[in-house]
Amino acid sequence: MKRIICWLGIATLAMAGVALAQGTEKKPKAKKAAAPVDKEAVERGRILFEKKCALCHNADSDVRKIGPGLKGLNQRGKFSVNDNKITDKTLKAWIESGDEQMPPFKEVLSEKEIMDVVRYVRTL
Ligand code: HEC
Repeated sequence: MKRIICWLGIATLAMAGVALAQGTEKKPKAKKAAAPVDKEAVERGRILFEKKCALCHNADSDVRKIGPGLKGLNQRGKFSVNDNKITDKTLKAWIESGDEQMPPFKEVLSEKEIMDVVRYVRTL
């Protein structure tokens, strides 16, 4: 009888060992998309820009339409309207609120859509 109990003990330990070994397998981590090169967001932003902004802004030149042409804005690094630094945050705030000459888009576009437009504008 003692022998049987002993064997059972060894068998249980062996099975536990196998289970442990299987449990330690690691899943590969999903890579984070780097913010400025999210091509799909840029493309969504481009389409939104065509619909909502192109009426007043050139994207392919700095020639003024109703508002300033936006080509080169990102490289210049500053708004021409107020000298503020161009960042995702300042652009988002600008598009959300507009000013006395530009309509606000807070109620027109969702936050996500505004961020897509920001992504696009940052490629200009
Ligand atoms: C009805 C016309 C109109 C529409 C539509 C419009 N804007 Fe404007 N926008 C303007 C005007 C006018 C100015 C300049 C405001 C000023 O001089 O005070 C401006 C300024 C800007 C500026 C600052 C440019 C600079 O050189 O400092 C950005 C960026 C901008 N708009 C982005 C957008 C985006 C993105 C959209 C679409 C979501 C948009 N605008 C839609 C009229 C418009």
